[in-house]
Amino acid sequence: MAAKSHTSSPSPGDDSAGAARRLAELKATIAHHAERYYELDDPEIPDADYDDMLREVLGIEQAYPELVTPDSPTRMIGGPRNEAFAPVVHEMAMMSLHNAFSIDELRAWNDRVVRRLEDRPVPAYATEPKFDGLAISLRYENGLLVQGATRGNGRVGEDVTRNVMTITDIPRRLGHEAPRVLEVRGEVYMRLSAFAALNIRQAESAEADGREPKLFINPRNTAAGSLRQKDPSITAERDLSFFCYQLGVVDGGPELTSHTNTLEWLGSLGLPVNEHSRSVGSIDEVAECIAAFEAGRHDFDYEFDGVVVKVDDLGLQAELGADAKAPRWAIAYKLPPEEVTTGLLDIEVSIGPSGQVTPFARLDTVRVGGVDVSTATLHNQDQVAVKDVRPGDTVIVRRAGDVIPEVVGPVLSARPEGSRPWRFPRNCPVCGEPLMRAEGVAATFCVNFHCPRQTRGRIEHFAGRYAMDIEWLGEKNVDLFVTEGLVSDVADLYTLDFDRLLEFDRFGQKSVDNLRDAIEASKSRPLGNLLFGLRIPEIGQVNAQTLASAFGSMDRITAASVDDLAAVDGFGQVIAESVHEWFARPDALDLIGRLSEAGLTMEAAVPDSPVEKTLEGKAVVVSGTLDGYTRDGAKEAIVARGGKSPGSVSRKTFALVVGAEPGASKVAKATGVGVPVIGEAAFKTLLDTGELPG
Ligand code: IVH
Repeated sequence: MAAKSHTSSPSPGDDSAGAARRLAELKATIAHHAERYYELDDPEIPDADYDDMLREVLGIEQAYPELVTPDSPTRMIGGPRNEAFAPVVHEMAMMSLHNAFSIDELRAWNDRVVRRLEDRPVPAYATEPKFDGLAISLRYENGLLVQGATRGNGRVGEDVTRNVMTITDIPRRLGHEAPRVLEVRGEVYMRLSAFAALNIRQAESAEADGREPKLFINPRNTAAGSLRQKDPSITAERDLSFFCYQLGVVDGGPELTSHTNTLEWLGSLGLPVNEHSRSVGSIDEVAECIAAFEAGRHDFDYEFDGVVVKVDDLGLQAELGADAKAPRWAIAYKLPPEEVTTGLLDIEVSIGPSGQVTPFARLDTVRVGGVDVSTATLHNQDQVAVKDVRPGDTVIVRRAGDVIPEVVGPVLSARPEGSRPWRFPRNCPVCGEPLMRAEGVAATFCVNFHCPRQTRGRIEHFAGRYAMDIEWLGEKNVDLFVTEGLVSDVADLYTLDFDRLLEFDRFGQKSVDNLRDAIEASKSRPLGNLLFGLRIPEIGQVNAQTLASAFGSMDRITAASVDDLAAVDGFGQVIAESVHEWFARPDALDLIGRLSEAGLTMEAAVPDSPVEKTLEGKAVVVSGTLDGYTRDGAKEAIVARGGKSPGSVSRKTFALVVGAEPGASKVAKATGVGVPVIGEAAFKTLLDTGELPG
């Protein structure tokens, strides 16, 4: 395709058909150049020409919004993947809100406001839903969206620009009157309809591939997870939405006097503002608004967990100021957690992968907090006894913004006659062996090592991402294999009769081939991964790597004495004894023999070369969840390289590594004392070289 083809074509005609034709032409040209640039690394045209085409698409889309499609090049950013999200320091802190849990607390807040204003009454309050999503800040320069950042700890967030740009609600370019700089804050959320559609797609694609569907649990977490995708095209598929509710830094623009006219102005620039924001004249009217929001909660296509009440006048807001955490001019009235009643069909217990027994209620399916609920946890034996819920009862179920719905208690007036308290089972419902509860501990356990549930748990762990990373071997497949007696330990995976799998409905030729390839591929995982996958007590992700590199081969580990093991840097007596004991078990040796026969990697990649001590004398603090390491894994990786990983930041800290949802105080402290805050990609460089990249 000729590089300049777009310049010779006519501009969009007045009619929408002409615009559609031009748009199709531009999209094809852009797709071609995006491939040259991003995938082949061999562009044919200057970046500026490419940008011109994108701008022309944007112009057509603004004039003919009906022509915007999810695959529009203005929404799909085809660039290389982000390794990690760079930190963004908020020029103005993104604060939190204080909460009121009752109308009395709301009135007490109002009294404090009036007192601070020396008894001048507040002329108006703005009320709006407290959206249940994720706060972000958008920065526009001369009307163009240049940055999107998460709230993070309020002072430092993450750069999610490329992801934000895929959200259809968020304009890439503002209307004509845009100021030089406009930072606007708001909430990214997921509509209930988008959430339901996403789960339907998940279920359908899993079925087509013969996989287990991984359904999303609630719109809030899904929105947050979707915004933090490394690959923006995934964010684009999630159909996120946005409402703005506050200004950040602004340079230029009109004189604004109230929150209400701020929202009007933002709306006039093309930003989405919520249509239910109201300005009312008294705290009594605020209470009426809240009642109306509460009553109409289910008529919205999105979730909200409260109503934000703001002093409308910006001058009064400035007078009231803020405390360390939140402004004094606003409060979040939290709606009570949703409670509904439904029938309790039965009480059952589930056995976790480690044998832990959890009682749960099977319910008549009921909608609570925007989600259909048919099971709810009862936590443990004592909780069931205290609540005294019984099969046949009508029970109150609560879901408090939280992912796990719980049974609050029975409606005693509706209890059928002759019902009896439910008795906690004495035996494991899976293997039939007696259950055990240790003195002073709330949890009950099935302690049978050969309980099929625990066998499944061990296999799931072995196949997990940080161990052998066997794709396509989901929980349902493991369950099927164990139940059908095809697999009773991890070594059996490597002698699985794949032809037999075709007898089961859930398998077709394609899914069998996928699984066979995935199991085959796992044979070449490094020795450290295999050791972690075996679930040897005390051997987490990093201890497993240490063990592999200290001894160099499975044979040498098997032959090691307690003293040899205790001499490993970073290991003590407890770890040494635990490893020694595990390798002395005949069934463990038999397992290793069969894994070796199957052709798994039994040698470390670089025998006898322990990891280099790149971090000698350096303290590296880790906060938040990283993608490539478990919580302890990252710390162990630092220690294995001679460094320290204390729990808090000080001036002496070499760097603070931040993953998802880092601790607020750590990031604030690090930025305050000038400790570099780095993401996961930089962390990897640091581990390898002992230095920060760049
Ligand atoms: S105003 C100074 N308005 O609630 C803070 N926040 O608990 C000004 N939120 O981080 C925030 N809906 O993510 C405001 N209508 C709304 C909101 C809202 C949801 C969130 C926001 C903030 C959190 C504080």
